[in-house]
Amino acid sequence: MSGLEIDKLSMRFDLPNGSSVQALKDVSIDLKAGELLSVLGPSGCGKTTLLNIVAGFLAPTAGEITLNGSRVHGPGPERGMVFQQGALFEWMSVRDNVGFGPRMKGMAEKPKREIVDHLLDVVGLQEFKEKAVYELSGGMQQRVALARCLANEPDVILMDEPLGALDALTREKMQGLVLKLWKETGKTIILITHSVEEALLLGERLIVMAPRPGRIHKEYNLPFADMGVGQDLREVKKHPDFATVREEILGMIWDMEEEIMGGSGS
Ligand SMILES: Nc1ncnc2c1ncn2[C@@H]1O[C@H](COP(=O)(O)OP(=O)(O)O)[C@@H](O)[C@H]1O
Ligand SMILES: [Mg+2]
Repeated sequence: MSGLEIDKLSMRFDLPNGSSVQALKDVSIDLKAGELLSVLGPSGCGKTTLLNIVAGFLAPTAGEITLNGSRVHGPGPERGMVFQQGALFEWMSVRDNVGFGPRMKGMAEKPKREIVDHLLDVVGLQEFKEKAVYELSGGMQQRVALARCLANEPDVILMDEPLGALDALTREKMQGLVLKLWKETGKTIILITHSVEEALLLGERLIVMAPRPGRIHKEYNLPFADMGVGQDLREVKKHPDFATVREEILGMIWDMEEEIMGGSGS
């Protein structure tokens, strides 16, 4: 059985003051190997919690995760995480960051060097491999983060707003890179984003979550990620269906945000 199965996941956080937060309730998602799922939803609807459970950083209060037929307990190299920023070793060179996982696995110098060189080509950072991470721009740092994740050869890549801190132009380039990596590597990807456009562009499948309790509100199957593999992303955005779905989802999230604001009395 190949793929990722998220089965009736629930997560409740019990707070010290005796109250509790139902961060997720009965969330089920089946992802086939090689599918790209984007996840949207207002702040606090449990997106990061969901990703942390799939990564194995958190144990759910109910439900289970199965990857390629095996139940997931705790973190493992077959699930790689790319964070928004700040998860690299700033003082280390680009090359050492990318080679970190293979080195920890005890890989010999030569194969490690080959893997690192290949991945630096893939993300377009060959020229920068001797630089320390703190010398790079935000976009380049996220390229390093992607390459470092790929070096561990994960089956599933989990991304929590990986492009959220980038300027618009860099972000667009990186969206193209994510699509390219997805097609070339065949990895299963879950990408959380705040940007409706990004979720539409990258999500072959898209889930909109709702808060209180965190749950799946609506699911889409979309053609735009496939279109974007061979085409300028700006052209994809001009597709008439793109605007239609974008408006529908924006309206949906707007309504949820209104409800949250109303509910908190602000
Ligand atoms: N460790 C924690 N302890 C208590 N509550 C938490 C914890 N992590 C998240 N939450 C709560 O769970 C809900 C979902 O959080 P999160 O998954 O971070 O949402 P999102 O990523 O969609 O913004 C929020 O109400 C948040 O305050
Ligand atoms: Mg979050």
